[in-house]
Amino acid sequence: MFRKTLLTIGLLMVAIQFFRPEKNISTIPGPDAIDAHYTVPKEIGLLLRKSCYDCHSNNTVYPWYSNIQPFSWWQQSHVNDGKEELNFDEFNSYDVKKKKKKLNEVAEMIEKDKTPLNSYTLIHRTAILSAQDKDTLITWAKEFQKAIN
Ligand code: HEC
Repeated sequence: MFRKTLLTIGLLMVAIQFFRPEKNISTIPGPDAIDAHYTVPKEIGLLLRKSCYDCHSNNTVYPWYSNIQPFSWWQQSHVNDGKEELNFDEFNSYDVKKKKKKLNEVAEMIEKDKTPLNSYTLIHRTAILSAQDKDTLITWAKEFQKAIN
């Protein structure tokens, strides 16, 4: 009985490997990308890329285990949800009101330590923001928000 259950689980694990979500990788920089329209300071660009772009852009850097199910589903759902809320590669397609709102949320999310997600930084250690990184990003988001009109 136990062996049969194990076998069934094993077969299921093999079977689900064939169902892979489409990856979030686009090679062409989008025309609506935030840095295609605004001057994003280099330091800010680097911080956003290392900590946010995996879920908030059109280009995710996938770790090796993302080829293994069910990780890839779980991961892809984060990417999809994250992109829907905020996509730095589509930023310029938002109207002024939405741009401001999203930047406010960026500052708020970082201030409240809600981002990046713990389940993500657990593995992506390099995505962890130092206290100084956080200050830098928060200040940028607030000032940039005021500058947009
Ligand atoms: C592992 C994926 C992941 C990473 C990395 C990530 N986010 Fe998110 N983010 C999400 C998901 C999923 C949501 C939507 C669900 C939610 O609100 O929790 C979201 C939502 C947001 C929102 C909208 C919040 C709201 O109030 O509705 C903002 C703003 C945001 N993230 C900013 C950031 C910033 C800034 C970074 C980098 C410092 C970052 N995120 C890194 C996954 C991620």
